[in-house]
Amino acid sequence: MKFFLDTADLSEIEEAASWGALAGVTTNPSLYARIGGKLDDFHNHIKRICEIVDGPVSAESVAMTRDEIVRDGRELAAIAPNVVVKVPTMVEGLAATRTLADEGIPVNMTLCFSVPQAILAARAGARYISPFIGRFDDISEDGLDQLNNVVQAIANYDFTDSTVNGEQIEIIAASVRSANHVTQAALMGADIATVPFGVLKKMVQHPLTDRGLDAFMKDWEKVQNA
Ligand code: E4P
Repeated sequence: MKFFLDTADLSEIEEAASWGALAGVTTNPSLYARIGGKLDDFHNHIKRICEIVDGPVSAESVAMTRDEIVRDGRELAAIAPNVVVKVPTMVEGLAATRTLADEGIPVNMTLCFSVPQAILAARAGARYISPFIGRFDDISEDGLDQLNNVVQAIANYDFTDSTVNGEQIEIIAASVRSANHVTQAALMGADIATVPFGVLKKMVQHPLTDRGLDAFMKDWEKVQNA
């Protein structure tokens, strides 16, 4: 499993990248709004993220028609070679994904909540598919079950004739709320988990690691004073 950071916050991205295990970043309009992002700085902001991260950076189109999504997608893809265009799973999004994929522009199909949506995304040529976990949990349904269904269904078929240059599709476990979501997604075989910085920090921690470290430090003090 690879880890992406789900944020538009440059300091979080810089910090996470410095840990050595970050493979990419996903952003969305809400995450950009959360950091006080301005419309006329959006492309520059994505460029800055692409300079920090050596891996795919998802930038979302907010257009609602296929032609506008394709236009947006081309502009976003021109920002940097590691930009991935994030497109919502809807009819216009599928049509735009086909065009962008045929032009060699990688697409991350987002807001995916079902197996049929995921299979359609795959057939439309998406490079990444993002099933959301936490938003199911928010409405008292089991997001992990839904993710498992998508992982299994996509694994049942060969989509390489639909994707650019026969690339393998990667499933991004999205809308991740906890380290346990990451554990379960990894056990299912999701290729990537995109996590908020708070979850990434929790993923590093374990109380037994803290306890063990504390004991080692105390014992080492004894060695130094012996
Ligand atoms: C995916 O790429 C989305 O940006 C993200 O995971 C959405 O998560 P949320 O449900 O916490 O907003």
